[in-house]
Amino acid sequence: MSDKSSNQMWGGRFAEGPDAIMEAINASIGFDQRMAAQDIAGSRAHAAMLAACGVITDSDAEAIREGLLTVLSEIDAGDFGFSTALEDIHMNVEARLAELIGEPAGRLHTGRSRNDQVATDFKLWVRAQLDAADQGLLALVRALLDQAEAGADWVMPGFTHLQVAQPVTWGHHMMAYVEMFGRDLSRMRDARVRMNESPLGAAALAGTSFPIDREMTAAALGFDRPAANSLDAVADRDFALEFLGAATMCAMHLSRLAEELVIWSSAQFRFVVLSDRFSTGSSIMPQKKNPDAAELIRAKVGRILGAQVGLTMVMKGLPLTYSKDMQEDKEQVFDAADSLMLALAAMTGMVADMTANRDSLAAAAAQGFSTATDLADWLVRRLGLPFREAHHVTGALVKLAEDHGVDLDGLTLAQMQGVHEGITDEVFTVLGVQNSVASRTSYGGTAPVRVREQISRWRGKLG
Ligand code: ARG
Repeated sequence: MSDKSSNQMWGGRFAEGPDAIMEAINASIGFDQRMAAQDIAGSRAHAAMLAACGVITDSDAEAIREGLLTVLSEIDAGDFGFSTALEDIHMNVEARLAELIGEPAGRLHTGRSRNDQVATDFKLWVRAQLDAADQGLLALVRALLDQAEAGADWVMPGFTHLQVAQPVTWGHHMMAYVEMFGRDLSRMRDARVRMNESPLGAAALAGTSFPIDREMTAAALGFDRPAANSLDAVADRDFALEFLGAATMCAMHLSRLAEELVIWSSAQFRFVVLSDRFSTGSSIMPQKKNPDAAELIRAKVGRILGAQVGLTMVMKGLPLTYSKDMQEDKEQVFDAADSLMLALAAMTGMVADMTANRDSLAAAAAQGFSTATDLADWLVRRLGLPFREAHHVTGALVKLAEDHGVDLDGLTLAQMQGVHEGITDEVFTVLGVQNSVASRTSYGGTAPVRVREQISRWRGKLG
Protein backbone atom coordinates (compact mmCIF):
# COMPACT_ATOMS: atom_id res chain seq x y z
CA MET A 1 0.00 0.00 0.00
CA SER A 2 1.39 3.39 -0.94
CA ASP A 3 1.21 5.86 1.88
CA LYS A 4 -0.73 8.31 -0.31
CA SER A 5 -3.71 6.01 -0.77
CA SER A 6 -7.43 6.24 -0.52
CA ASN A 7 -7.18 4.26 2.69
CA GLN A 8 -6.11 7.56 4.23
CA MET A 9 -9.73 8.54 3.64
CA TRP A 10 -11.45 5.48 5.07
CA GLY A 11 -8.55 3.57 6.64
CA GLY A 12 -10.42 3.15 9.92
CA ARG A 13 -12.16 -0.03 8.95
CA PHE A 14 -9.56 -1.41 6.50
CA ALA A 15 -6.66 -3.62 7.50
CA GLU A 16 -5.18 -3.96 4.02
CA GLY A 17 -4.73 -1.68 1.05
CA PRO A 18 -6.34 -2.43 -2.31
CA ASP A 19 -4.98 -4.92 -4.82
CA ALA A 20 -3.28 -3.25 -7.79
CA ILE A 21 -6.07 -4.43 -10.07
CA MET A 22 -8.68 -3.07 -7.70
CA GLU A 23 -6.90 0.24 -7.78
CA ALA A 24 -6.74 0.18 -11.57
CA ILE A 25 -10.43 -0.53 -12.05
CA ASN A 26 -11.48 1.86 -9.34
CA ALA A 27 -9.49 4.94 -10.29
CA SER A 28 -10.99 7.77 -12.33
CA ILE A 29 -8.19 10.29 -11.86
CA GLY A 30 -6.86 9.51 -15.35
CA PHE A 31 -9.86 11.31 -16.80
CA ASP A 32 -11.73 13.16 -14.06
CA GLN A 33 -8.77 15.50 -13.54
CA ARG A 34 -10.45 17.45 -16.34
CA MET A 35 -12.93 18.57 -13.68
CA ALA A 36 -10.26 20.02 -11.37
CA ALA A 37 -11.40 23.62 -11.75
CA GLN A 38 -15.02 22.65 -11.08
CA ASP A 39 -14.03 20.55 -8.09
CA ILE A 40 -12.12 23.40 -6.54
CA ALA A 41 -14.90 25.91 -7.25
CA GLY A 42 -17.37 23.55 -5.54
CA SER A 43 -15.10 23.12 -2.53
CA ARG A 44 -14.55 26.85 -2.19
CA ALA A 45 -18.28 27.50 -2.24
CA HIS A 46 -18.85 24.71 0.28
CA ALA A 47 -16.16 25.91 2.69
CA ALA A 48 -17.36 29.52 2.59
CA MET A 49 -20.90 28.32 3.28
CA LEU A 50 -19.81 26.10 6.18
CA ALA A 51 -18.14 29.12 7.80
CA ALA A 52 -21.13 31.39 7.16
CA CYS A 53 -23.36 28.80 8.83
CA GLY A 54 -21.02 28.44 11.80
CA VAL A 55 -20.13 24.81 11.00
CA ILE A 56 -16.41 25.60 10.65
CA THR A 57 -14.47 28.65 11.81
CA ASP A 58 -13.68 31.60 9.60
CA SER A 59 -9.97 30.94 9.99
CA ASP A 60 -10.35 27.33 8.86
CA ALA A 61 -12.41 28.52 5.88
CA GLU A 62 -9.73 31.04 5.01
CA ALA A 63 -6.98 28.42 5.23
CA ILE A 64 -9.06 26.13 3.01
CA ARG A 65 -9.70 28.91 0.50
CA GLU A 66 -6.02 29.81 0.21
CA GLY A 67 -4.98 26.18 0.07
CA LEU A 68 -7.45 25.45 -2.70
CA LEU A 69 -6.16 28.40 -4.71
CA THR A 70 -2.64 26.99 -4.36
CA VAL A 71 -3.84 23.57 -5.50
CA LEU A 72 -5.55 25.13 -8.50
CA SER A 73 -2.44 27.06 -9.47
CA GLU A 74 -0.35 23.90 -9.17
CA ILE A 75 -2.77 22.04 -11.42
CA ASP A 76 -2.95 24.92 -13.91
CA ALA A 77 0.85 25.09 -14.01
CA GLY A 78 1.02 21.38 -14.71
CA ASP A 79 3.04 20.53 -11.64
CA PHE A 80 0.49 18.64 -9.63
CA GLY A 81 1.30 14.99 -9.01
CA PHE A 82 -1.97 13.17 -9.65
CA SER A 83 -2.05 9.87 -7.81
CA THR A 84 -3.97 6.81 -8.94
CA ALA A 85 -3.94 5.52 -5.40
CA LEU A 86 -6.02 8.56 -4.49
CA GLU A 87 -8.63 7.40 -6.98
CA ASP A 88 -10.25 10.55 -8.24
CA ILE A 89 -9.99 14.31 -8.52
CA HIS A 90 -11.91 14.87 -5.29
CA MET A 91 -9.49 12.91 -3.13
CA ASN A 92 -6.41 14.12 -4.98
CA VAL A 93 -7.37 17.72 -4.29
CA GLU A 94 -8.30 17.04 -0.69
CA ALA A 95 -5.09 15.10 0.02
CA ARG A 96 -2.94 17.86 -1.43
CA LEU A 97 -4.91 20.41 0.57
CA ALA A 98 -4.10 18.44 3.73
CA GLU A 99 -0.40 18.50 2.84
CA LEU A 100 -0.57 22.24 2.36
CA ILE A 101 -2.73 23.39 5.29
CA GLY A 102 -2.92 20.45 7.67
CA GLU A 103 -5.88 19.93 9.96
CA PRO A 104 -8.43 22.41 8.54
CA ALA A 105 -8.42 20.39 5.30
CA GLY A 106 -10.12 17.58 7.18
CA ARG A 107 -13.10 19.85 7.97
CA LEU A 108 -13.88 20.59 4.31
CA HIS A 109 -15.78 17.34 3.82
CA THR A 110 -18.29 18.17 6.57
CA GLY A 111 -21.90 17.97 5.38
CA ARG A 112 -21.07 16.70 1.92
CA SER A 113 -20.02 13.49 0.20
CA ARG A 114 -18.23 12.60 -2.99
CA ASN A 115 -21.66 11.73 -4.34
CA ASP A 116 -22.99 15.28 -4.31
CA GLN A 117 -19.49 16.53 -5.05
CA VAL A 118 -19.09 14.55 -8.26
CA ALA A 119 -22.63 15.39 -9.38
CA THR A 120 -21.85 19.07 -8.82
CA ASP A 121 -18.49 18.98 -10.58
CA PHE A 122 -19.87 17.11 -13.55
CA LYS A 123 -22.86 19.42 -13.84
CA LEU A 124 -20.61 22.46 -13.81
CA TRP A 125 -18.46 20.83 -16.49
CA VAL A 126 -21.41 19.93 -18.70
CA ARG A 127 -22.90 23.40 -18.19
CA ALA A 128 -19.66 24.91 -19.50
CA GLN A 129 -19.99 22.68 -22.58
CA LEU A 130 -23.55 23.87 -23.18
CA ASP A 131 -22.17 27.42 -23.08
CA ALA A 132 -19.30 26.52 -25.40
CA ALA A 133 -21.71 24.86 -27.83
CA ASP A 134 -23.82 28.01 -27.67
CA GLN A 135 -20.82 30.11 -28.71
CA GLY A 136 -19.78 27.62 -31.38
CA LEU A 137 -23.28 27.53 -32.85
CA LEU A 138 -23.54 31.33 -32.87
CA ALA A 139 -20.29 31.58 -34.82
CA LEU A 140 -21.49 28.99 -37.32
CA VAL A 141 -24.88 30.65 -37.76
CA ARG A 142 -23.15 33.99 -38.38
CA ALA A 143 -20.91 32.43 -41.04
CA LEU A 144 -23.97 30.92 -42.73
CA LEU A 145 -25.80 34.26 -42.61
CA ASP A 146 -22.85 35.92 -44.36
CA GLN A 147 -22.96 33.30 -47.09
CA ALA A 148 -26.74 33.68 -47.40
CA GLU A 149 -26.47 37.44 -47.67
CA ALA A 150 -23.79 37.33 -50.34
CA GLY A 151 -25.85 35.00 -52.50
CA ALA A 152 -29.43 35.78 -51.53
CA ASP A 153 -30.48 35.77 -55.21
CA TRP A 154 -28.05 33.29 -56.71
CA VAL A 155 -29.96 30.46 -58.31
CA MET A 156 -29.09 26.83 -57.80
CA PRO A 157 -30.94 23.56 -58.17
CA GLY A 158 -33.05 22.47 -55.26
CA PHE A 159 -33.04 18.69 -54.91
CA THR A 160 -35.28 15.93 -53.70
CA HIS A 161 -33.92 12.38 -53.90
CA LEU A 162 -30.74 14.20 -55.06
CA GLN A 163 -32.59 14.70 -58.34
CA VAL A 164 -33.10 18.22 -59.60
CA ALA A 165 -36.49 19.38 -58.33
CA GLN A 166 -37.01 23.15 -58.52
CA PRO A 167 -34.66 26.11 -58.67
CA VAL A 168 -33.91 27.67 -55.29
CA THR A 169 -31.54 30.37 -54.13
CA TRP A 170 -28.15 29.86 -52.53
CA GLY A 171 -29.26 32.18 -49.75
CA HIS A 172 -32.33 30.04 -49.12
CA HIS A 173 -30.23 26.88 -48.92
CA MET A 174 -27.81 28.48 -46.46
CA MET A 175 -30.75 29.71 -44.40
CA ALA A 176 -32.13 26.18 -44.14
CA TYR A 177 -29.02 25.36 -42.09
CA VAL A 178 -29.45 28.53 -40.06
CA GLU A 179 -32.86 27.18 -39.02
CA MET A 180 -31.38 23.79 -38.08
CA PHE A 181 -28.49 25.20 -36.10
CA GLY A 182 -30.85 27.75 -34.59
CA ARG A 183 -32.92 24.87 -33.19
CA ASP A 184 -29.73 23.26 -31.90
CA LEU A 185 -28.91 26.51 -30.15
CA SER A 186 -32.33 26.60 -28.52
CA ARG A 187 -31.95 22.95 -27.44
CA MET A 188 -28.65 23.76 -25.72
CA ARG A 189 -30.30 26.71 -24.00
CA ASP A 190 -33.34 24.71 -22.91
CA ALA A 191 -31.10 22.00 -21.48
CA ARG A 192 -29.14 24.59 -19.53
CA VAL A 193 -32.27 26.02 -17.93
CA ARG A 194 -33.47 22.57 -16.88
CA MET A 195 -30.15 21.33 -15.54
CA ASN A 196 -29.16 24.41 -13.58
CA GLU A 197 -29.97 23.14 -10.07
CA SER A 198 -27.27 22.46 -7.51
CA PRO A 199 -26.74 18.94 -6.14
CA LEU A 200 -24.29 20.24 -3.53
CA GLY A 201 -25.43 19.60 0.03
CA ALA A 202 -27.44 16.51 -0.91
CA ALA A 203 -24.46 14.82 0.78
CA ALA A 204 -24.22 11.03 0.39
CA LEU A 205 -27.92 10.69 -0.50
CA ALA A 206 -30.14 11.75 2.39
CA GLY A 207 -29.09 15.32 3.10
CA THR A 208 -27.21 16.24 6.27
CA SER A 209 -27.86 17.09 9.89
CA PHE A 210 -25.46 20.04 9.73
CA PRO A 211 -27.18 23.42 9.42
CA ILE A 212 -25.98 24.06 5.87
CA ASP A 213 -27.31 26.65 3.43
CA ARG A 214 -27.79 25.08 0.02
CA GLU A 215 -29.17 28.30 -1.43
CA MET A 216 -25.85 29.92 -0.69
CA THR A 217 -23.68 27.32 -2.43
CA ALA A 218 -26.13 27.15 -5.33
CA ALA A 219 -25.87 30.92 -5.83
CA ALA A 220 -22.08 30.91 -5.48
CA LEU A 221 -21.80 28.34 -8.27
CA GLY A 222 -24.24 30.11 -10.58
CA PHE A 223 -27.05 27.60 -10.13
CA ASP A 224 -30.62 28.89 -10.10
CA ARG A 225 -31.57 26.90 -7.00
CA PRO A 226 -30.64 23.77 -5.06
CA ALA A 227 -32.00 20.47 -6.41
CA ALA A 228 -35.13 19.69 -4.39
CA ASN A 229 -34.62 16.00 -3.66
CA SER A 230 -31.32 14.76 -2.26
CA LEU A 231 -31.76 11.24 -3.65
CA ASP A 232 -32.40 12.55 -7.14
CA ALA A 233 -29.59 15.08 -6.81
CA VAL A 234 -26.92 12.40 -6.45
CA ALA A 235 -28.54 9.86 -8.80
CA ASP A 236 -29.35 12.17 -11.70
CA ARG A 237 -27.30 12.18 -14.89
CA ASP A 238 -30.13 13.47 -17.11
CA PHE A 239 -28.20 16.67 -17.63
CA ALA A 240 -25.35 14.81 -19.34
CA LEU A 241 -27.75 12.74 -21.43
CA GLU A 242 -29.67 15.80 -22.46
CA PHE A 243 -26.45 17.48 -23.55
CA LEU A 244 -25.58 14.37 -25.54
CA GLY A 245 -29.04 14.37 -27.11
CA ALA A 246 -28.68 17.98 -28.22
CA ALA A 247 -25.10 17.27 -29.31
CA THR A 248 -26.21 14.28 -31.38
CA MET A 249 -28.87 16.33 -33.16
CA CYS A 250 -26.36 19.10 -33.83
CA ALA A 251 -23.76 16.61 -35.06
CA MET A 252 -26.37 15.09 -37.37
CA HIS A 253 -27.04 18.53 -38.85
CA LEU A 254 -23.31 19.14 -39.20
CA SER A 255 -23.02 15.80 -40.94
CA ARG A 256 -25.69 16.70 -43.50
CA LEU A 257 -24.02 19.99 -44.32
CA ALA A 258 -20.65 18.24 -44.44
CA GLU A 259 -22.05 15.74 -46.94
CA GLU A 260 -23.31 18.57 -49.13
CA LEU A 261 -19.88 20.19 -49.06
CA VAL A 262 -18.29 16.90 -50.08
CA ILE A 263 -20.69 16.60 -53.02
CA TRP A 264 -20.59 20.27 -53.94
CA SER A 265 -16.80 20.50 -53.99
CA SER A 266 -16.48 17.53 -56.37
CA ALA A 267 -15.46 18.01 -60.00
CA GLN A 268 -18.90 16.79 -61.06
CA PHE A 269 -20.71 19.55 -59.17
CA ARG A 270 -18.27 22.44 -58.70
CA PHE A 271 -20.84 24.33 -56.63
CA VAL A 272 -18.25 25.46 -54.09
CA VAL A 273 -14.52 25.80 -53.77
CA LEU A 274 -13.23 25.03 -50.30
CA SER A 275 -10.30 27.09 -49.13
CA ASP A 276 -6.80 25.65 -49.03
CA ARG A 277 -6.87 26.25 -45.28
CA PHE A 278 -9.65 23.68 -44.93
CA SER A 279 -8.55 21.13 -47.52
CA THR A 280 -5.87 18.49 -47.82
CA GLY A 281 -3.90 17.09 -50.72
CA SER A 282 -3.10 13.58 -51.81
CA SER A 283 0.35 12.09 -51.40
CA ILE A 284 0.14 10.40 -54.80
CA MET A 285 -2.35 12.33 -56.95
CA PRO A 286 -1.02 15.86 -57.37
CA GLN A 287 -4.28 17.28 -58.74
CA LYS A 288 -6.32 16.41 -55.67
CA LYS A 289 -7.78 18.74 -53.14
CA ASN A 290 -9.76 16.75 -50.62
CA PRO A 291 -12.54 17.88 -48.28
CA ASP A 292 -11.15 15.91 -45.31
CA ALA A 293 -12.53 18.26 -42.68
CA ALA A 294 -16.03 17.82 -44.09
CA GLU A 295 -15.62 14.05 -44.12
CA LEU A 296 -14.42 13.98 -40.53
CA ILE A 297 -17.30 16.19 -39.45
CA ARG A 298 -19.66 13.87 -41.31
CA ALA A 299 -18.28 10.97 -39.26
CA LYS A 300 -18.28 12.60 -35.80
CA VAL A 301 -21.97 12.01 -35.25
CA GLY A 302 -21.20 8.31 -34.80
CA ARG A 303 -19.13 8.71 -31.68
CA ILE A 304 -21.43 11.38 -30.27
CA LEU A 305 -24.52 9.22 -30.68
CA GLY A 306 -22.40 6.35 -29.36
CA ALA A 307 -21.81 8.32 -26.19
CA GLN A 308 -25.52 8.95 -25.79
CA VAL A 309 -26.33 5.27 -26.23
CA GLY A 310 -23.43 4.27 -23.98
CA LEU A 311 -24.39 6.51 -21.10
CA THR A 312 -28.05 5.57 -21.40
CA MET A 313 -26.97 1.94 -21.01
CA VAL A 314 -24.88 2.82 -17.95
CA MET A 315 -27.82 4.53 -16.28
CA LYS A 316 -30.64 2.15 -17.16
CA GLY A 317 -31.58 -0.18 -14.37
CA LEU A 318 -29.45 1.51 -11.69
CA PRO A 319 -31.27 1.50 -8.38
CA LEU A 320 -31.28 4.82 -6.54
CA THR A 321 -29.03 6.44 -5.66
CA TYR A 322 -25.33 6.47 -6.55
CA SER A 323 -23.66 3.36 -7.89
CA LYS A 324 -20.07 3.18 -9.00
CA ASP A 325 -21.32 2.44 -12.52
CA MET A 326 -21.88 6.17 -12.68
CA GLN A 327 -18.15 6.79 -12.77
CA GLU A 328 -18.44 5.48 -16.34
CA ASP A 329 -20.43 8.61 -17.22
CA LYS A 330 -17.55 10.96 -17.88
CA GLU A 331 -15.16 9.75 -20.56
CA GLN A 332 -17.78 9.42 -23.25
CA VAL A 333 -19.25 12.83 -22.43
CA PHE A 334 -15.77 14.36 -22.54
CA ASP A 335 -15.11 12.76 -25.89
CA ALA A 336 -18.49 13.77 -27.31
CA ALA A 337 -18.04 17.36 -26.15
CA ASP A 338 -14.53 17.58 -27.62
CA SER A 339 -15.78 16.12 -30.90
CA LEU A 340 -18.72 18.49 -31.12
CA MET A 341 -16.69 21.62 -30.36
CA LEU A 342 -14.05 20.68 -32.90
CA ALA A 343 -16.65 19.85 -35.54
CA LEU A 344 -18.44 23.17 -34.96
CA ALA A 345 -15.19 25.12 -35.21
CA ALA A 346 -14.08 23.28 -38.36
CA MET A 347 -17.47 23.73 -40.03
CA THR A 348 -17.48 27.43 -39.16
CA GLY A 349 -14.05 27.82 -40.73
CA MET A 350 -15.03 25.92 -43.84
CA VAL A 351 -18.28 27.85 -44.32
CA ALA A 352 -16.63 31.21 -43.71
CA ASP A 353 -13.83 30.44 -46.18
CA MET A 354 -15.69 28.69 -48.98
CA THR A 355 -16.50 30.35 -52.28
CA ALA A 356 -19.75 29.50 -53.97
CA ASN A 357 -19.36 29.17 -57.74
CA ARG A 358 -22.21 31.34 -58.90
CA ASP A 359 -21.95 30.33 -62.57
CA SER A 360 -21.92 26.58 -61.88
CA LEU A 361 -24.87 26.98 -59.55
CA ALA A 362 -26.82 28.90 -62.20
CA ALA A 363 -25.95 26.44 -64.98
CA ALA A 364 -27.00 23.51 -62.82
CA ALA A 365 -30.20 25.28 -61.82
CA ALA A 366 -31.39 25.28 -65.41
CA GLN A 367 -30.75 21.60 -65.94
CA GLY A 368 -33.16 18.77 -65.34
CA PHE A 369 -36.32 20.66 -66.41
CA SER A 370 -36.25 22.39 -63.05
CA THR A 371 -38.97 24.87 -64.03
CA ALA A 372 -41.49 22.18 -64.94
CA THR A 373 -43.56 23.03 -61.86
CA ASP A 374 -43.59 26.68 -62.90
CA LEU A 375 -44.95 25.62 -66.27
CA ALA A 376 -47.67 23.50 -64.65
CA ASP A 377 -48.57 26.36 -62.30
CA TRP A 378 -48.82 28.70 -65.30
CA LEU A 379 -51.23 26.31 -67.04
CA VAL A 380 -53.38 26.39 -63.92
CA ARG A 381 -53.22 30.14 -63.50
CA ARG A 382 -53.61 31.26 -67.10
CA LEU A 383 -55.58 28.50 -68.77
CA GLY A 384 -57.63 27.45 -65.76
CA LEU A 385 -56.58 23.78 -66.00
CA PRO A 386 -57.02 21.60 -62.93
CA PHE A 387 -53.55 21.01 -61.45
CA ARG A 388 -53.65 17.28 -62.21
CA GLU A 389 -54.28 17.98 -65.90
CA ALA A 390 -51.61 20.69 -65.94
CA HIS A 391 -49.22 18.14 -64.45
CA HIS A 392 -50.04 15.75 -67.27
CA VAL A 393 -49.61 18.38 -70.02
CA THR A 394 -46.29 19.48 -68.51
CA GLY A 395 -45.12 15.87 -68.38
CA ALA A 396 -45.81 15.59 -72.11
CA LEU A 397 -43.87 18.81 -72.76
CA VAL A 398 -40.91 17.52 -70.72
CA LYS A 399 -40.96 14.32 -72.73
CA LEU A 400 -41.03 16.34 -75.97
CA ALA A 401 -38.09 18.51 -74.83
CA GLU A 402 -36.18 15.41 -73.80
CA ASP A 403 -36.80 13.83 -77.21
CA HIS A 404 -35.47 16.96 -78.91
CA GLY A 405 -32.53 17.25 -76.53
CA VAL A 406 -33.49 20.76 -75.37
CA ASP A 407 -34.57 22.45 -72.16
CA LEU A 408 -38.20 23.47 -71.75
CA ASP A 409 -37.50 26.98 -73.03
CA GLY A 410 -35.84 25.43 -76.08
CA LEU A 411 -39.20 24.23 -77.38
CA THR A 412 -40.96 26.42 -79.93
CA LEU A 413 -44.39 27.85 -79.25
CA ALA A 414 -45.74 25.70 -82.09
CA GLN A 415 -44.31 22.57 -80.52
CA MET A 416 -45.92 23.50 -77.21
CA GLN A 417 -49.26 24.25 -78.81
CA GLY A 418 -49.09 20.81 -80.37
CA VAL A 419 -49.40 19.47 -76.81
CA HIS A 420 -51.94 22.06 -75.60
CA GLU A 421 -53.44 24.56 -77.99
CA GLY A 422 -54.15 27.20 -75.33
CA ILE A 423 -50.46 27.88 -74.59
CA THR A 424 -49.28 31.40 -75.51
CA ASP A 425 -45.80 32.83 -75.68
CA GLU A 426 -46.30 34.36 -72.23
CA VAL A 427 -45.30 30.90 -71.01
CA PHE A 428 -41.66 31.67 -71.73
CA THR A 429 -41.60 34.21 -68.88
CA VAL A 430 -42.03 31.45 -66.33
CA LEU A 431 -39.50 29.05 -67.79
CA GLY A 432 -36.41 31.00 -66.67
CA VAL A 433 -34.91 30.00 -63.34
CA GLN A 434 -34.51 33.58 -62.09
CA ASN A 435 -38.23 34.22 -62.64
CA SER A 436 -39.00 30.89 -61.06
CA VAL A 437 -37.29 31.70 -57.78
CA ALA A 438 -38.52 35.29 -57.78
CA SER A 439 -42.11 34.02 -58.03
CA ARG A 440 -41.90 31.84 -54.91
CA THR A 441 -42.83 34.60 -52.52
CA SER A 442 -44.97 32.56 -50.13
CA TYR A 443 -43.83 32.86 -46.50
CA GLY A 444 -40.70 30.76 -46.08
CA GLY A 445 -40.29 30.50 -49.86
CA THR A 446 -37.11 30.78 -51.87
CA ALA A 447 -37.74 34.22 -53.45
CA PRO A 448 -34.77 36.52 -52.74
CA VAL A 449 -37.13 39.05 -51.13
CA ARG A 450 -38.25 36.39 -48.61
CA VAL A 451 -34.72 35.14 -48.04
CA ARG A 452 -33.52 38.65 -47.24
CA GLU A 453 -36.37 39.04 -44.75
CA GLN A 454 -35.26 35.88 -42.98
CA ILE A 455 -31.66 37.01 -42.94
CA SER A 456 -32.61 40.27 -41.24
CA ARG A 457 -34.96 38.48 -38.84
CA TRP A 458 -32.05 36.27 -37.76
CA ARG A 459 -29.61 39.16 -37.58
CA GLY A 460 -32.10 40.99 -35.35
CA LYS A 461 -32.54 37.94 -33.17
CA LEU A 462 -28.83 37.41 -32.69
CA GLY A 463 -28.13 41.08 -32.08
N1 ARG B 1 -14.91 8.93 -8.72
C1 ARG B 1 -16.29 8.80 -8.37
C2 ARG B 1 -17.16 9.04 -9.63
O1 ARG B 1 -16.69 9.55 -10.58
C3 ARG B 1 -16.64 9.82 -7.33
C4 ARG B 1 -17.81 9.42 -6.48
C5 ARG B 1 -17.47 8.29 -5.59
N2 ARG B 1 -18.50 8.01 -4.67
C6 ARG B 1 -18.56 6.83 -4.04
N3 ARG B 1 -19.56 6.65 -3.24
N4 ARG B 1 -17.65 5.92 -4.21
O2 ARG B 1 -18.31 8.68 -9.68
